[in-house]
Amino acid sequence: MPDFAKIQEQRRSIYNLGKNVQQNPDELFSIIKGAVRETPSAFNSQSVQAVVLTGQAHEKLWEIALTELKKVAASEEAFTATKTKVNHSFAAGFGTVLYFTDTNIVEGLKKQAPAYADNFDDWAEEAIGISLYAVWLTLSNLGLGASLQHYNPLIDQAVKETFNLPDSWVLRGQMPFGSIEAPAQDKTYQDDMVRFMHFN
Ligand SMILES: Cc1cc2nc3c(=O)[nH]c(=O)nc-3n(C[C@H](O)[C@H](O)[C@H](O)COP(=O)(O)O)c2cc1C
Repeated sequence: MPDFAKIQEQRRSIYNLGKNVQQNPDELFSIIKGAVRETPSAFNSQSVQAVVLTGQAHEKLWEIALTELKKVAASEEAFTATKTKVNHSFAAGFGTVLYFTDTNIVEGLKKQAPAYADNFDDWAEEAIGISLYAVWLTLSNLGLGASLQHYNPLIDQAVKETFNLPDSWVLRGQMPFGSIEAPAQDKTYQDDMVRFMHFN
């Protein structure tokens, strides 16, 4: 059983992804489903919906992102740089996990428990964070790399139409994943003295 702290340390944002993955798409779908299914959520509301894109669906997502990014690009040069990043860092991967919040569930909770109504939007975001971290760790533990991207809301409409998703689902993040073709760069840490306290 690998040490959990080691699994945490091993997980990084990986921007050089490839398609050299041992698992097949169905296996990965099953593993990702398992990771999200076991996450906690406020009132066990399970407001996080995950869509796993592999193969042509994954390629299509990043085509959508490029189409939408082109519409808002400041210049031709800026778009060329963006295109290189999207193709190299995200489309080059094996798949992408899309994370959504089902707003029907969140709005239902507000009505069901009005005393907590002001909290439910925050709690839905926390559930997104917990779910994506669970998947990120799970992928990392399989030796796969991933990063977290936010091309929402720019791509929301096209994504919803292309994959025929419910209107109540709001896109909160995109996680391209795949083989690790280059390691993450070093990262810096805040001083523990500044960040943590312990009273006993
Ligand atoms: C809520 C959240 C939003 C993030 N958004 C992005 C993003 O839009 N694009 C990106 O490349 N990385 C994004 N990241 C990744 C962080 O930049 C990264 O986790 C951080 O720099 C630490 O690096 P590490 O993931 O390698 O540990 C996000 C991370 C979190 C938790």
